[in-house]
Amino acid sequence: MNYKIAVIEGDGIGPEVCAAAVEVLKAVGEKFKRGFTFARALMGGAAIDACGLPLPEETVDVCKRSGAVLLGAVGGPKWEGLPGESRPEAGLLGIRKALGLYANIRPARLVNALKKTCPLRADIRDKGIDMIVVRELTGGIYFGKRNTVQRNPAGKTYAYDTEKYGVNEIRRIAEKAFEIAAKRKKKIVSVDKANVLDSSRLWRRTVHEMSAEYPDIEVADMLVDNAAMQLVKNPAQFDVILTSNMFGDILSDEAAMITGSIGILASASLGSGGRGLYEPIHGSAPDIAGQDKANPVAAILSAAMMLEISFGLGAEAAAAERAVNAVLERNIRTADIKEDGSRIVGCKEMGALIAEEIRR
Ligand code: IPM
Ligand code: MG
Repeated sequence: MNYKIAVIEGDGIGPEVCAAAVEVLKAVGEKFKRGFTFARALMGGAAIDACGLPLPEETVDVCKRSGAVLLGAVGGPKWEGLPGESRPEAGLLGIRKALGLYANIRPARLVNALKKTCPLRADIRDKGIDMIVVRELTGGIYFGKRNTVQRNPAGKTYAYDTEKYGVNEIRRIAEKAFEIAAKRKKKIVSVDKANVLDSSRLWRRTVHEMSAEYPDIEVADMLVDNAAMQLVKNPAQFDVILTSNMFGDILSDEAAMITGSIGILASASLGSGGRGLYEPIHGSAPDIAGQDKANPVAAILSAAMMLEISFGLGAEAAAAERAVNAVLERNIRTADIKEDGSRIVGCKEMGALIAEEIRR
């Protein structure tokens, strides 16, 4: 069987972290005798520069012909002045929508090797951090009606964005959370702002109704401001967090950071079929782009999620994860997760060491 992977490197550190992830995938391919093939495609700022559009039609086609998509990151100061629909980020939102990837799965786990890089107090950290943020990805305020209305005098100019959720949209993302929770601690915290927003009240009601279909899974509600606080106060209480597009965006950065660095968190974006898009949750980090300073671990762990979820290659995924941990245990670090006494390496070397670990 040939496993076809579309690779969208994107902007900033995207190409560097993707190169490391591809190297690791090649090592997995050799070790386990799997034929991975890679098809490059443009998106984001790179695509704007090459053909004037953040998401060329060709890129959507390449992704649709592939079993999975590996993505680096998009965006950067160079394209900041562009109107919303022409920005690099519009490419990312567009590909998620075009491939129907409504479920964004973001696991945040504090691994032993990185305990000391966790910014939380030791007594909080030592209770453990191991959660999955299940974020709705193709609805809500990201895709609702928006506009900027220019008025004269300028003080009367206004802009708006709309948060809108249909019951079916809520149901299908909640279903993913219930499925994931069933394989874990059977505990979901559904995060909303139901004390203010109608869309959140519908969210809450729908999740409660569904909860009758899953009697062995415990569901609790939490307001998003409280959730932001609880994540740093007592992260051990969370197992599966189910939430909307915008809240999930914000809370997943927070969840990532408490596990040591945003440079290590992977994600999978899934739809109803097997095809998924796998990307680190970090951004394009233009400040360190091209300097071989980025942490490729998030991209590598995203590739591991791809192996398991889209290709059903569980042993291969586990080998990649093990290799990451083995290198971290040897106290080899990129700058963002350095500790006393660690050997600091660049993005390239980190990728090479992890690949080598797999080959041995
Ligand atoms: C993410 C990113 C994106 C998002 C941006 C780049 C559009 O922050 O994947 O979390 O907000 O979804
Ligand atoms: Mg984000």
